[in-house]
Amino acid sequence: MTRVLTAEALTKNFVLHHLSQSLPAFRDLSFTVDAGEFLLLRGPNGVGKSTLLRMIWRSYLVDAGHLWFERPDGVIDLARAADVDIAVLRRGEIGFVTQFLIARPRVSAEEVVAEPLRQAGIADPLPRARAALETFGVRPDLWRACPATFSGGEQQKVNLARALILPMRLLLLDEPTASLDAGARKALLARLADLKSQGVAMIGVFHHPGDVAHLIDRELTLKPMTELSNVAV
Ligand SMILES: Nc1ncnc2c1ncn2[C@@H]1O[C@H](COP(=O)(O)OP(=O)(O)OP(=O)(O)O)[C@@H](O)[C@H]1O
Ligand SMILES: [Mg+2]
Repeated sequence: MTRVLTAEALTKNFVLHHLSQSLPAFRDLSFTVDAGEFLLLRGPNGVGKSTLLRMIWRSYLVDAGHLWFERPDGVIDLARAADVDIAVLRRGEIGFVTQFLIARPRVSAEEVVAEPLRQAGIADPLPRARAALETFGVRPDLWRACPATFSGGEQQKVNLARALILPMRLLLLDEPTASLDAGARKALLARLADLKSQGVAMIGVFHHPGDVAHLIDRELTLKPMTELSNVAV
């Protein structure tokens, strides 16, 4: 089995500036994910599931520990990699689906979805982008409109079409079925199964894990860490 990610002794504290206190999110958390493997993150609200995904995506920094990400040409520690390297990984190797689409003004839905294809050097990406929008049930009259004015569910569909259009080495999923109708949910599950069979490693949080029961290989349950400690801030 090809290893994709090794999290080693991860530690993260949130500093609550207004209280001059720090709140531990994780201490010494270690786990691995292999190619084609689906790891389900579990635990109550506020336990740190989204935080852990953001640390791997590097929108949150890691306080201590390592996130070894295996690439064909070597291993890189996501906890310490330069921002430019993280930007490259986000373009072609690590994908992140959240409930929120960050819509850019004047960029159409079909362009939002076509962008990863263009960046990968694929010529004439619009037909493929439109097919992905259709798969997730975005109406054709919306394809050339800007998603900023779309409903929450429509934005989520554009998000999914974009994030899942190319197989990444590692896919992070933060409650991607929230706000989806039954048709889009079915399309998502079919696409995830397809990507998994192509060797994509996935780490996901699902409110209703029953939806993805057939995809799950392993589970990681996060435990609440409640102690507050005083820090000088
Ligand atoms: N930037 C931040 N600064 C301070 N505290 C934060 C920050 N981001 C998250 N937290 C806190 O970290 C804890 C974990 O939040 P997180 O969003 O990771 O939980 P979660 O397990 O994803 O919960 P849910 O199931 O509700 O989505 C929460 O108590 C949250 O308030
Ligand atoms: Mg969350």
